[in-house]
Amino acid sequence: MKDFPPIELSEEHLKRTVGDFVAAARNAMEAGFDGVELHAGNGYLLEQFLGSGVNKRTGAYGGSAENRCRIVVEIAEAVGMEVGIENVGVRMSPWGVYNDIQDDDRFETWSTLCGLLGKLGGLSYAHFVEAREDERTQWEKSWGVGRKLGFEWARKGLGSIPVLSAGVWDGESVWGAVENGKVDACVFARWFVSNPDLVEK
Ligand SMILES: Cc1cc2nc3c(=O)[nH]c(=O)nc-3n(C[C@H](O)[C@H](O)[C@H](O)COP(=O)(O)O)c2cc1C
Repeated sequence: MKDFPPIELSEEHLKRTVGDFVAAARNAMEAGFDGVELHAGNGYLLEQFLGSGVNKRTGAYGGSAENRCRIVVEIAEAVGMEVGIENVGVRMSPWGVYNDIQDDDRFETWSTLCGLLGKLGGLSYAHFVEAREDERTQWEKSWGVGRKLGFEWARKGLGSIPVLSAGVWDGESVWGAVENGKVDACVFARWFVSNPDLVEK
């Protein structure tokens, strides 16, 4: 960190970054992937634009929630042009504080992003990393919106884009989650690592 301090990406860097995402998506599809997922959460590059506590830019990519969301939408659009928007998903972590991402108004930021992705239209899915039970009080407080669980707020912006959720499912909680309309699919991560036959099990 001391020898390589973070820098603010110039507009030229940003163009290159969009191109890098497009090239990576193209390579993935050529290698036989069914689709690609843009990671806009967990404190990685794209969430560093989203969070007002991290993004201190002025100009088109900083300031308002819409400006902070701009790079995500531009990349989703550009990757969609390359591989088909129906083959692109976006991963989001509205409740996560992983990698120290801070935001003055997380609800506004993530609602704005969902609205913009909804307007873009046609995405394969929106994939949410849900808060762990032990984190919930913390993020509910940080949102200042009380116990706002669920995805109604996100669906308002996303429209018909399917909602996937990861991080809260086990062999019991998963039952009924799709049928009762909470989510369109439940994502399993850790269990697959040691159980490649999880579905059969
Ligand atoms: C060892 C480990 C490493 C992980 N690494 C990443 C990562 O690099 N990027 C990411 O977005 N999520 C990462 N995750 C989170 C998972 O993608 C997933 O959201 C999380 O494990 C919740 O799903 P699960 O309860 O089914 O495991 C990681 C999880 C674990 C356990």
